[in-house]
Amino acid sequence: MPARRLGRHLVAQWTRARAALTATGPAVAVAAAPVGPVVALRDLRFRWRPDEPEVLALDQLQVARGEHLFIAGPSGSGKSTLLGLLAGVNVPQQGSVQVLGQALEGLDGAARDRFRARHIGYIFQMFNLIPYLSILDNVLLPCRFSARRRARARARSGRLVAEAHRLLAHLDLAAPDLLSRPVTALSVGQQQRVAAARALIGAPELLIADEPTSALDSDRRQAFLRLLFDECRASGSALIFVSHDTSLAGLFDRSLALGAVNQAGSATAAGRPAPAA
Ligand SMILES: Nc1ncnc2c1ncn2[C@@H]1O[C@H](COP(=O)(O)OP(=O)(O)O)[C@@H](O)[C@H]1O
Ligand SMILES: [Mg+2]
Repeated sequence: MPARRLGRHLVAQWTRARAALTATGPAVAVAAAPVGPVVALRDLRFRWRPDEPEVLALDQLQVARGEHLFIAGPSGSGKSTLLGLLAGVNVPQQGSVQVLGQALEGLDGAARDRFRARHIGYIFQMFNLIPYLSILDNVLLPCRFSARRRARARARSGRLVAEAHRLLAHLDLAAPDLLSRPVTALSVGQQQRVAAARALIGAPELLIADEPTSALDSDRRQAFLRLLFDECRASGSALIFVSHDTSLAGLFDRSLALGAVNQAGSATAAGRPAPAA
């Protein structure tokens, strides 16, 4: 969905429901996670426009529940495009992207938005914060759209606002004068951390992070990574983390060079033999 349409959609819903977020709810037990991979991608082909070359041609990719996967690749190699497909922001022209057993290409745009709000925390490369909303309200957004995320956030801290404060405090963003500020009044590094707290709230099963440390200095990067890994471990969330900073790869269970598996533009992709009958 284009960022502007996404923004309008989110703000309209948010305005109707602001009051519900401040209520205290009962702690809710979280059901045991079902089995099966978080992500199972097959025979994926994607191009941005019909007259443009393929950006991605991937035969398969699986990510296990709770796995921490690092994806590296040079600028323009299709990392953000891949993450957008994994989150159902876009759908491939061919192939399948299953998340938690759900084929995203089988859902319409609104259903994919609901699925994403419920199950996926996404730190966008450009943050995609809602400019009209404060830090706090940006962080609480996923709880507006997903009862599951609300329940999990309340189970953690009792109240949604308390959970937002807890995450923001870990990211050095809890000063009272900061919380009510519009996000447009923040530095790029502060916006990046707000985007991280928004992705983490309500413990989604899959956390997608697109170059999430690019605007952080080394102290803040350390604190950020600690929070990210602590939260993912505490909730058993899988993490797919994209960066061109390969020095981070050792922190992850597995790392993948996108260029090594992406056949788009290669002779193999162009002259792919027909599968044997
Ligand atoms: N929204 C878009 N519309 C059209 N082309 C795009 C769009 N986003 C990315 N691209 C193109 O897709 C290719 C891969 O881009 P991207 O996935 O952003 O790479 P990376 O994240 O690895 O830097 C580039 O050629 C880029 O120009
Ligand atoms: Mg990118």
